[in-house]
Amino acid sequence: MTFIHCVKMHPAKIKQQFGSKLKSLSASQSPHRVFSDWLEIAAITLHQLPYHSGELAKDTAFETLEAQYMERVKAYSREKLNSFSEMLSLLILAHNGSYSDFLGEIAGEYELLNKRVGQFFTPYHLCRLLAKVSVGNVRSLVEEKGIVTVCEPAVGAGGLVIATAEEAASQGVDPCAYMQFDCTDVSRDAFNMAYIQLSALGLQAIVRHGNTLSDEYWEHRPTPQLRMFEQWLAPRRKAQQLVQAMQSILAGTSAAEPEACDSLPAYEKSSGQTLFDLEQFAGESLTRKRSPQKLDVVLDRQMDLFG
Ligand SMILES: C[S@@+](CC[C@H](N)C(=O)[O-])C[C@H]1O[C@@H](n2cnc3c(N)ncnc32)[C@H](O)[C@@H]1O
Repeated sequence: MTFIHCVKMHPAKIKQQFGSKLKSLSASQSPHRVFSDWLEIAAITLHQLPYHSGELAKDTAFETLEAQYMERVKAYSREKLNSFSEMLSLLILAHNGSYSDFLGEIAGEYELLNKRVGQFFTPYHLCRLLAKVSVGNVRSLVEEKGIVTVCEPAVGAGGLVIATAEEAASQGVDPCAYMQFDCTDVSRDAFNMAYIQLSALGLQAIVRHGNTLSDEYWEHRPTPQLRMFEQWLAPRRKAQQLVQAMQSILAGTSAAEPEACDSLPAYEKSSGQTLFDLEQFAGESLTRKRSPQKLDVVLDRQMDLFG
């Protein structure tokens, strides 16, 4: 893979370079086909990174997506795949230290959206406004709950989620550490766009390809950061359970009624209340239904449009 060196480039320049690569790849195929294939390949590439770096042990999710990746790249020459890698590098540059809906804007400008399923993405400055109204005081939510969970039932390319993360950052809360997002879109391209952008920004999320209204889900994919966080949390969770069990024994209470452990940091106090049970995603159940858990913030104002 040829990654572009990590230099600071003007966002308009990044967009222009991304667009001209997309155009030159579309000389012999429809731009929509090329864009969709790039989205599939880029999303899988990001998912597989922690496996290739040895941070995660290879599992069924890895093998399934690796097979899909190999199938998808078959149609492209080495030269075209190099251009795909450069487009992914540009995307990562675009999200390096700045929040934006890069792919949503690209898809809009190059007319790659499916208007039949209501794909018109909210301009990013409006997403910022909506996020401010929806999320309120993130800092006090984090103090109360440890991790703030956010549901986006029609995620598009992820504009509203990204704006919510930016809102948290503007309040001095690191969204990568203290927020978890549960996002769905019925469109395969939108599912991939959201997955790519949220992963590139280092956010913890499950992105689902599914229909929020009929409650059908075809694929759930955790971002690498969510997998890493859960991996880091697992032994701490076990240690906490052990401490609680010992406290119960010493106090003569049942293990089912553990006492609060006030010395733990907020996110560990909330153990068990993080949004996702990651074990289900590492196994064969990429298609399992979503949990009915109640989330702290629901970005659902737009759902009335599709009812
Ligand atoms: C107007 S866009 C909004 C996207 C994003 N929330 C934003 O504000 O930029 C609506 C999105 O909802 C998706 N959508 C439409 N019906 C849906 C459904 N039943 N379940 C999940 N997503 C749906 C479309 O594919 C589209 O990406």
